[in-house]
Amino acid sequence: MILSTSVQLAKTYLEKGGVIGLPTETVYGLAGNIWDQEAINKIFTIKERPKNHPLIAHVAHWEQVESIASDIPVKAQLLAERFWPGPLTMILSAKPTIPSEATAGLGTIAVRMPEHPLALKLLSTIPFPLVAPSANPFGKISPTSAMHVFSYFKGKIPLTLDGGNCKVGLESTIIGFKDDAVVIYRQGIISKDDILEVLPNTAVYYDIDNQSNYPGSHRSHYAPRTPLIITESFEEAVNKFVGKKIGLLTMGTSGVDFSSSAEVRNLSKTEDLKEAASNLYAQLHELDNLNLDVIIVKLFPATNLGIALNDKLFRASSQFDQNA
Ligand code: TXA
Ligand code: MG
Repeated sequence: MILSTSVQLAKTYLEKGGVIGLPTETVYGLAGNIWDQEAINKIFTIKERPKNHPLIAHVAHWEQVESIASDIPVKAQLLAERFWPGPLTMILSAKPTIPSEATAGLGTIAVRMPEHPLALKLLSTIPFPLVAPSANPFGKISPTSAMHVFSYFKGKIPLTLDGGNCKVGLESTIIGFKDDAVVIYRQGIISKDDILEVLPNTAVYYDIDNQSNYPGSHRSHYAPRTPLIITESFEEAVNKFVGKKIGLLTMGTSGVDFSSSAEVRNLSKTEDLKEAASNLYAQLHELDNLNLDVIIVKLFPATNLGIALNDKLFRASSQFDQNA
C-alpha cells in the first residue's frame, strides 16, 4: 500500500474500480465508487463485514445528494446547511439505481459530506460519490491515522490518501427521519442539543440499540484485542491486576501517578471531551499494540459527548463480562 497525498492517484485507482483509504475528520474510510458493484463487494470482502451492514455515501456537494437520494426532507436540508461539511450522517430514501450492496437492500442510503480538505478535493474531482465504511476490519477499533489503515490493510488495498490525524476521531452522528421526528441511531460529536438548535420544534429521540441493520447494533464494536476494563477507581483496578502488564487511559491531571505500574495515556489533561474524543481511538490503538494484559479506563461524565464516548467504551469492553 502506498501512503500518498495525491488526489490524482486516488482518482486513478477509484476509476479502475479500486478501493482506497480515505481520510475524513472523523475516522478513515475504506472507499469505493458508489455506482461500481465490484468495488462495493471488495469493500465488504476486505473489511470482512457482514452484507447486512449498509455503507455511508460521501459527497462534496448537494447535487450529489440529489443524485442518490429522493424525497429529501426539508429538515435534512436545514441540517446539512448547518452541519456540512461535518460529522453528521443522514439516512434518506435511496434512488433505486444505487447498487443494493451499498444499502443492504434497505431502500435507504446514509449520506454525509466529510469535513476534510483532501476528501473534499477528491470528491469534487471525481464524478461519483464514494461509499465508505470505517477502514477497520469488522469489529476492530476505527482508524484515525493513515498508519492505522496501513497496519490493518497493507497487502489488501493499493493506496491510502494520507490526511494526517483525524481531528474529530469519533464516527459521525447518524440520524434518520421518522414521520416528523428525527431519530438518532449513533451519536458522535454532534448531539441531540445541536440538532434541536436547528430544529427547535421537532421531536428528536434516540434509538441507539436498534436491531439488525442499524448502527450500533453490533455489541462488540470498536474492540481492542487487549481486554478493556471499565473501573470506578484506578487505584483499585491497578491493585487488582498487580503483576500484570497494565495500560491506563486517564483524563485530567489530578490523582496518583501510575507511571511506575502501568503504561499511561492521557486523553485530555484539561478534561476537554472533544480532545478526549480525538485521542480515544489513537490511544487505544497504541495501548493495544503493547501486548498488555489489560487496558483500564474510567467512564466519562455523562454529558452529550460523554454519553457517546461511554457508548464506545461499553462496546469496546463488551466481549469481556464485567460482572465475572
Ligand atoms: O464517521 C463516519 O461515519 C465514518 C467515516 C468513514 O465517514 N464511517 C463509518 O461507517 O463509521 P461505518 O460503515 O463504519 O458505520 C456506519 C454505520 C453502520 O453501522 C451501518 O450499519 C449504518 O451506519 N448504516 C449505513 N447505512 C445505513 C442505512 N441506510 N440505514 C441504517 N443504518 C445504516
Ligand atoms: Mg465502523
